[in-house]
Amino acid sequence: MHEKTFYITTPIYYPSDKLHIGHTYTTVAADVMSRYKRMRGFDVMFLTGTDEHGQKIEERAAAAGVSPKAFVDEIVIGPGGIVDLWKLMNISHDRFIRTTDDYHMESIQKIFKALYDKGAIYKSVYTGKYCTPCESFWTESQLTDGNCPDCGRAVKNAEEEAYFFRLSEYGDRILDLYENHNFLEPVSRVNEMVNNFIKPGLEDLCVSRTTFSWGVPVDFDPGHVVYVWIDALSNYITALGYGNEKYHDFDRYWPADIHLVGKEIVRFHTIIWPAMLMALDLPLPKKVFGQGWLLLDGGKMSKSKGNVVDPYILADRYGVDALRYFLLREFPYGSDGNFSNEVLINRINTDLANDLGNLLSRTVSMVEKYFDGTLPEHQESGPEDEPLLALANPLRDIYETKMEQLAFQDALVEVFQVISRANKYIDETAPWILAKDAVNHPRLARVLYNLLETIRLTTVLLLPFTPESSEKAWAQIGADPAICDWDSAGTFGLLPATVTVKKGENLFPRIDVKKELEALENAVG
Ligand code: MSP
Repeated sequence: MHEKTFYITTPIYYPSDKLHIGHTYTTVAADVMSRYKRMRGFDVMFLTGTDEHGQKIEERAAAAGVSPKAFVDEIVIGPGGIVDLWKLMNISHDRFIRTTDDYHMESIQKIFKALYDKGAIYKSVYTGKYCTPCESFWTESQLTDGNCPDCGRAVKNAEEEAYFFRLSEYGDRILDLYENHNFLEPVSRVNEMVNNFIKPGLEDLCVSRTTFSWGVPVDFDPGHVVYVWIDALSNYITALGYGNEKYHDFDRYWPADIHLVGKEIVRFHTIIWPAMLMALDLPLPKKVFGQGWLLLDGGKMSKSKGNVVDPYILADRYGVDALRYFLLREFPYGSDGNFSNEVLINRINTDLANDLGNLLSRTVSMVEKYFDGTLPEHQESGPEDEPLLALANPLRDIYETKMEQLAFQDALVEVFQVISRANKYIDETAPWILAKDAVNHPRLARVLYNLLETIRLTTVLLLPFTPESSEKAWAQIGADPAICDWDSAGTFGLLPATVTVKKGENLFPRIDVKKELEALENAVG
């Protein structure tokens, strides 16, 4: 049995619209982190899923003339739906939860009742403002220009008998989490929470609804359904078996190591969620990381405005690995980033086609051309090799530091510095000149060996980002997967001296930017 566990979650997605490339951002990040931790020997639990209740879904289903369950089934498990998208994106989640699953609903009823029995929830009357698309209640003072402070849309008056959670009692303990326990990262998000919510004073939270029925019924008070965020947030524990018999992993994996969430739902994860857990006397997650958004034309991604944001189309045209790589390389993980098809294509061309793709194809071609595919015995490395080796040797440790901070972009920059250095090394050592005279062949073999080793080390570290391409690269350089694990990535020189390579397909073909942008326009019509 593994000693070290790592529990990571994504938000659970609303199956109300087709997912766009922005939605894949968190899931790819969680996948990369999971693969990295597995490579490190952790017993990983990677959870994702769908958040299927609430008024918005009920209304969308009614408009489509189908039952809410049929509506969400189509988007979640139907062809080209969310489950298919994660398969396509090579997402390696260990568990997929749907909040309409019986076991989850059973747990929610128990959690709600437990909170009520403990006095953390009480019955009263709600009057205030409600934002239907966000499914959020607001007080007058929280509105921005009379509109929903999250999405800017109009709110409606609402009054109903409802249950309330005593959120107002938790302000100090939540502040302590931010200040003394690194609960929320990046730190820029802490100020947002403190200034907008904690300092003005937390108010009790309305946690049941009677105006619609598509939710988990409150079993001791017919007519009430549980507020969708209480239902949704609890997924992180119900999926481990808390309050149900479906799973028995709660003791093993809780508390979560990290919840990855988009910045607009940080509030729910760092105020309501810890308060709920405190009320239930459960341990708190170790960290919530609030990532930025992929923006289109400076705004939140919704409909494509002249850009293709359909991940199915993009993955089909450029490959899943290229897309995964782009998402985590282009933008610092905690910040917003402007997405465009042009930026995507340029990134693929520069890093993957030019730098990595060329290094691999040039190196393997040279081994085939000069040595029929099998290296002969080579001489020792000399001073000319030092600059490359000095960069390659410490790479794994530098990468580790960056990955532990979720600084995916920095980790990739480090890896690609070594890849670029290796391309420069080819120019410096000029293998085509060494090849001319047999007396230089032991030196030539050393140069090619160092290049193959650089490819091995870098593609092992790229494995979490580009899982399929890394494995294809190992096949080309003749690296047994046994020397492509985490331990082996820290040691230069593990390939057999007389390794045999095998040229394969070009992993990342270069894309003609102009033609491709035109073709994309046509792809969406
Ligand atoms: N159902 C809630 C989450 C409940 S978690 C207990 C939800 N769902 S969502 O489908 O609307 O969003 C899921 C995630 O996708 C959120 O973290 C959101 O921030 C993220 N993104 C949606 N659009 C995005 C971008 N354009 N860019 C980056 N992330 C984006 O919220």
